[in-house]
Amino acid sequence: MKILMVCLGNICRSPLAEGILKYKAKQAELPWKIESAGTNGYHIGEPPHHLSQKVARLNGIDICDQRARRFTADDFKNYDKIYAMSADVIDEMKRIARNKFDAGKVDLLMNELNPGKNMDVPDPWYGPEPGYHQVYKMIDEACDAVVRKYGRTSNSDLGPLSTGHGNPNTQSTIRNSQ
Ligand code: 4NP
Repeated sequence: MKILMVCLGNICRSPLAEGILKYKAKQAELPWKIESAGTNGYHIGEPPHHLSQKVARLNGIDICDQRARRFTADDFKNYDKIYAMSADVIDEMKRIARNKFDAGKVDLLMNELNPGKNMDVPDPWYGPEPGYHQVYKMIDEACDAVVRKYGRTSNSDLGPLSTGHGNPNTQSTIRNSQ
């Protein structure tokens, strides 16, 4: 499965989403390709914002090698699922992709955690450090939901991804498959 995380600048939110989901997919032994992009070109080639790097590092995830790139219409050809961090990002994706926009591949990331609620991941770019921690927590929980949902179909050997409180049969399935 190929997943693209998209925000405006590709320096604050989507680099965190890329790093967090990559980390979780690796832990779950899922052979996913996960990348990120931004709808504006202001920061092309730059590493993630230093506060995104900091909150990722505090959570054991290194995102410093990422570089910002611009979202393109061809991304609809190259990815199975495209997650936008906020509704304004989807508007920009429509403007860029025009007739290549594929609504079936696009959703707000937070809809994986709270289906149908259409919640944005707020843009921390204009504010101080606590905003980055809040955004990290939201993205982290949404990425857990993505792994729970698609992990089953991508790697059926693992079975349902349990947090350790599921039924005993599920527990033994996980133990036996490792
Ligand atoms: P992001 O935050 O979309 O989460 O990367 C932003 C970063 C930069 C800008 C806007 C949003 N900017 O306009 O430069």
